[in-house]
Amino acid sequence: MKQYLSRILTLVKRKPKGWKALLYNTAMAKAGVAGPLMMPVHLTIEPTNLCNARCPVCETGNGSMERAGGMLDERLYRRLIDEVGPTTAILMFYFMGEPFLHRQSYDMIRYARSKDMYVETCTNGDYADAKGIVYSDVNEVSFQIGGMTAETHRVYRVRSDLDRVRKNLYDLLDERRKHPDSNVQINVGFIVMRHNEHQVPDFLRWAKEIGVDRANVIDPCVRTVSQGHEMLPTDRKYWFYDEEAFERGVLRPKVVPSNECTWIWNSTTINWDGTVVPCCRDPHGKHVFGNAFERPLRQIWNDEPIKRFRRRIASAQNQVDICELCSGYGVPPLGREKPMSFDIQRLSLDHHSLDIPEDLNPRHDLIQVTSSSSKP
Ligand SMILES: C[S@@+](CC[C@H](N)C(=O)[O-])C[C@H]1O[C@@H](n2cnc3c(N)ncnc32)[C@H](O)[C@@H]1O
Ligand code: SF4
Repeated sequence: MKQYLSRILTLVKRKPKGWKALLYNTAMAKAGVAGPLMMPVHLTIEPTNLCNARCPVCETGNGSMERAGGMLDERLYRRLIDEVGPTTAILMFYFMGEPFLHRQSYDMIRYARSKDMYVETCTNGDYADAKGIVYSDVNEVSFQIGGMTAETHRVYRVRSDLDRVRKNLYDLLDERRKHPDSNVQINVGFIVMRHNEHQVPDFLRWAKEIGVDRANVIDPCVRTVSQGHEMLPTDRKYWFYDEEAFERGVLRPKVVPSNECTWIWNSTTINWDGTVVPCCRDPHGKHVFGNAFERPLRQIWNDEPIKRFRRRIASAQNQVDICELCSGYGVPPLGREKPMSFDIQRLSLDHHSLDIPEDLNPRHDLIQVTSSSSKP
């Protein structure tokens, strides 16, 4: 409650883009009222649901994706951005698939930036182009890896090439040095799994040494108990799942949301073909509320299908299939700023701190350790 109030006060004081809608829609979420709502301040847009890497948990990677594969149409995207430009504060330019496989990604990000949106994206790094990223003016890009050696990286990022990912990252750091006025924040992420958990200290040292802005240590998601046995780290501080339930053969997050979700009152996800789904927990497109390339999003956002879904969340969330494995993380804060110095962040439900290597003493002026409320 105290944290909630302090977030409200900060919003009212700083008034970042979207602050009124965030306050209003969150109050409606807390009251369980499905609408009408103000336009969402957070949007996810999927550039493509295709990918090269074949990660075994990801529906794109393991080939279980039930939606057709394809690429976002740039003309329709621009029309949508024109519609939502005045109200969207944060655009997550990735969902299922690898954003930089889309040749127009850089131009599309730049277009959203020209409408004063804060844009962030995540990449496996294989096809990330340094010049394109700096040109795009993206606020945050995160290169996410599966290990510190070619062998460990490929256990999860099966068809990715760590040398190529590193080269693309180093090129990006060089390119940014050549453009000192560039605002691009460069992050690296490490998905902690059983095969690589011993490499977390090496990862943190490497991240600091190469000069990225932030290192994220990410608790892994799995979809089944058997994937859990295979992939979850032996060190349970990296577990996002309830240990006791897991022993009984049930996969359930440590914190299960109970008739509460700030996401679908503040945000929605638009697939490459324009279909609108609740959030990142619907990779197959099971709950489609409409098509934002066929109708204005402002109509879909307050129409009956999405309101019906919000009502189900507010009254019987335990019966909503896609909420079963939801982390229940809240929406990320508005008005984010680039870290002043190297920053280490945990994407986790666990409150224990990381074991930071001695030589990266977190009390050192150059290092801040924070925990995050964004979703994995
Ligand atoms: C579906 S991916 C799409 C973006 C990009 N292709 C990538 O992998 O970075 C979305 C996010 O999920 C993360 N991710 C993939 N598999 C994961 C897992 N098993 N556990 C936690 N995060 C995972 C990715 O690193 C990325 O941040
Ligand atoms: S790199 Fe990203 S999109 Fe591609 S298979 Fe892996 S998690 Fe899925």
